[in-house]
Amino acid sequence: MTEWQKTDWRAKPRVQMPDYTDEAKLNAVEAKLASYPPLVFAGEARKLKAKLGAVSRGEAFLLQGGDCAESFAEFSADNIRDTFKVMLQMAMVLTYGAKVPVVKVGRMAGQMAKPRSAPTEVINGAELPSYRGDIVNGFDFTPEARIPDPDRMLQAYTQAAATLNLLRAFSTGGYADLHKVHSWTLGFTASPEAERYRELATRISDTLDFMNAAGIRDEANHAMQTVDFFTSHEALLLEYEEALCRLDSTSGKWLAGSGHMIWIGDRTRQPDGAHVEFCKGVQNPIGLKCGPSMTSGHLKSLMASLNPENEAGRLTLIARFGAGNVGEHLPRLIKAVQEEGANVVWTCDPMHGNTIKSSTGYKTRPFDSVLREVREFFAVHNAEGSIPGGVHFEMTGKDVTECTGGVRAVTDEDLSDRYHTACDPRLNASQSLELAFLVAEELSARREKLAAAANA
Ligand code: PEP
Ligand code: CO
Repeated sequence: MTEWQKTDWRAKPRVQMPDYTDEAKLNAVEAKLASYPPLVFAGEARKLKAKLGAVSRGEAFLLQGGDCAESFAEFSADNIRDTFKVMLQMAMVLTYGAKVPVVKVGRMAGQMAKPRSAPTEVINGAELPSYRGDIVNGFDFTPEARIPDPDRMLQAYTQAAATLNLLRAFSTGGYADLHKVHSWTLGFTASPEAERYRELATRISDTLDFMNAAGIRDEANHAMQTVDFFTSHEALLLEYEEALCRLDSTSGKWLAGSGHMIWIGDRTRQPDGAHVEFCKGVQNPIGLKCGPSMTSGHLKSLMASLNPENEAGRLTLIARFGAGNVGEHLPRLIKAVQEEGANVVWTCDPMHGNTIKSSTGYKTRPFDSVLREVREFFAVHNAEGSIPGGVHFEMTGKDVTECTGGVRAVTDEDLSDRYHTACDPRLNASQSLELAFLVAEELSARREKLAAAANA
């Protein structure tokens, strides 16, 4: 067998990628990106892989979340901080319920290319190519904006680099210090979730005070002052991925330098396609979206090609079937994993199977469906003797109105108030926190059941 090359994907069938018209410009951009520094270091990707290995054994829990699509227009320090903050809050709630460490992975610093259900979009009788994310073309409904422009990859790289820089600063520069758990308060004070969060924060502060008083301080200190926060995105635009792919001198293996973890979307997971080919050869943790059309045969062949050495933490299976459909699809895939003795992380994306059009014309997701899919995911894993390892959300730290429902009930009529997403509807900060409490309840119920079974 000849050795894998980062260009091998070019010989495979590709879907969901733009047709660039200006080849000279494309080549120039690729060459420039290839000369730039990678955004992440191989040791970080290996560290994440080790943590995901712990998730696959049930010793940690994965929280992955962020925008459906990061946009150039919404790029700001406030947005990055708010999403980071809500993820820290959610992680704290989950840690409290699961009593295991929470691995935090943002859909951030590179989540800018989007697969679409149709190649064109029709508005008032006019038909134009679909918007494919800011790294590819523009959101405005004009013929010019919708032309794929290679220069957008350079802007995406710059934005990803600046985002990652700020995330690293927040993670280690004091912002994420657990002693400041109270200061990560929600911007909006009225929600019952904020109240529940404050109670939890008080309990944590009390514990820290106690530890302090008892002299249990020094070694614990570093762990409580910093967090590990990782980045991820869908590796959809392979010209960008290839240009940032680097050989890691420590291990002699290839690294996708665009983010710590990359995933393959539900529309681009053809076992012989370009996206699987690219992901096969890089050492990063890989996510694989599993929707209703995934057969056990497909899954077995993908596990064999993406994780031939059955390395724990290498492969995360992201189930996204839609509320009401989990019982029909998840058991056969869990069986396929069990039959192969495969080490995988199972995580639940309750967003992408639950998108509907509201009565007011907006693309939305009812909070109840999101919650129901999470519950079904836990129930099926519990019944099959498998491990529900994590959750994957589209969310933002902002008070948007994009998904309906939640304790501060967003209605169909409210959607127009603050509907800002460049792609799919996101949970707002309050809905995200509410979901974290509900997942924490599932986790602690599961923990109690397992403990009771062990004692019986
Ligand atoms: C996404 O995660 O934004 C996405 C497009 O998901 P999927 O591939 O599962 O549809
Ligand atoms: Co999405």
